Amino acid sequence: MTTSIYIQRRATLAKQLGKNGIAIIPTAQEQQRNRDSDFLFRADSYFYYLTGFTEPRAWLVVLGDGTSTLFCQPKDLEREVWDGIRLGPDAAPAELGVDAAFSVADIDTHLPKLLDNQSVVWYPFATHKGLETRVDGWLNALRARVRFGAMCPEQQRDLCGLVDEMRLIKDAGEQATMRRAAQISAGAHIRAMQLSARMLRQGKAVQEFHLDAELLHEFRLHGSQYPAYGSIVAAGANACVLHYRADKAPVRSGELVLIDAGCELDGYASDITRTFPANGKFTGPQRELYDLVQASQEAAVAMTRAGARFTDPHEASVKVLAQGMLDTGLLDKNKVGGLDDVIENRSYFPFYMHRTGHWLGMDVHDCGAYLEPSEMGQTSQRIDPLTGETLINRPARILRAGMVLTVEPGIYVRPAAGVPEKYHNIGIRIEDDAIVTATGCELISRGVPVDADEIEALMR
Ligand code: GLY
Ligand code: MN
Ligand code: MN
Repeated sequence: MTTSIYIQRRATLAKQLGKNGIAIIPTAQEQQRNRDSDFLFRADSYFYYLTGFTEPRAWLVVLGDGTSTLFCQPKDLEREVWDGIRLGPDAAPAELGVDAAFSVADIDTHLPKLLDNQSVVWYPFATHKGLETRVDGWLNALRARVRFGAMCPEQQRDLCGLVDEMRLIKDAGEQATMRRAAQISAGAHIRAMQLSARMLRQGKAVQEFHLDAELLHEFRLHGSQYPAYGSIVAAGANACVLHYRADKAPVRSGELVLIDAGCELDGYASDITRTFPANGKFTGPQRELYDLVQASQEAAVAMTRAGARFTDPHEASVKVLAQGMLDTGLLDKNKVGGLDDVIENRSYFPFYMHRTGHWLGMDVHDCGAYLEPSEMGQTSQRIDPLTGETLINRPARILRAGMVLTVEPGIYVRPAAGVPEKYHNIGIRIEDDAIVTATGCELISRGVPVDADEIEALMR
């Protein structure tokens, strides 16, 4: 992406700040891992979205008049020998298209001046530890000068809402990056599936980390900076632990493996789940439940299109899954009643306890309101059948072209009385990434197949 897209985004933001508005956006803080080792640095998503700048210790200030100022690390030849080249304030305007840039060491001198004469200060609420205190400090410094004619902003507002709405619709460049990220991740899933079958055929002991290593190798091989989230590589019963992490449990012939992993590429996440037989061949009961989850995903995909509500895919997949639970005997008709009762009472919940999707973008669970902004006032109430809590219903977001979301139904069967034994410990999820289009959606993660026969074929 060229500098101009970031200039455009800052201009779009500036228009929404109001003539006397000022926005303050820090990048992420470096995080200590242990002793003198830090976690690998990852820029803050809001900051990166508006600058494309990936150095730590940087701040962006945007004024309602359209000008922007960057604070960044000063050039320091000695530090650069250890930590790498810094852009530095002198080069920043030409490189990033900002109007001015200063050393971050001088930010406490500049910020009170930038705040002077502004009426609303915007910053992302509850995102950066200590940010409110920094802003308070600058406001205090400015207030000390009111006798000399300084004017303090009288309102603080949350910047997140403004940038969230911008980030929710992905432009062509963002979509291209996300396609590429999903393509890399799809290749990684195929590689892990094939390694599992191959090692088991060769009589080797397979552990979850062997498959995780394949994912990481493929991500980095194609230039991804890091996984977009902690990869889940779950063999057998571990698949029923929703946030299980790749570890060292044995991958056994006859069991399923659930892998939920996606790379991050140039700031954008992919998020793919596939569930496959460790040895390349589904058993009868595994296949029954697998086909059910696949059918529920197809129903959800069919509802993923411009004009539908965010909740429509979820409702479509629940309907298919709930009917399947009745048909397979996971749910006992005599106890739970028919399909409508199962849905109304959420009796499917012990086997399907998460939502069918989420926004996807720079963050794996990306920003963006899940409620329709134009219908916020329309509320109704209902009682949650499982908890008895009163819930407020608001109309769900209407999908529009350029939004990106996951479609990820699943079924998780923990051993329990009355649950057919042949399904015990089977955990299945199928997750794809969808760009909403005018007429439907584009599944950008289908570089790895979902059909059970196709998965068996590629594992042979
Ligand atoms: N991997 C996190 C999720 O699927 O939402
Ligand atoms: Mn997901
Ligand atoms: Mn996932």
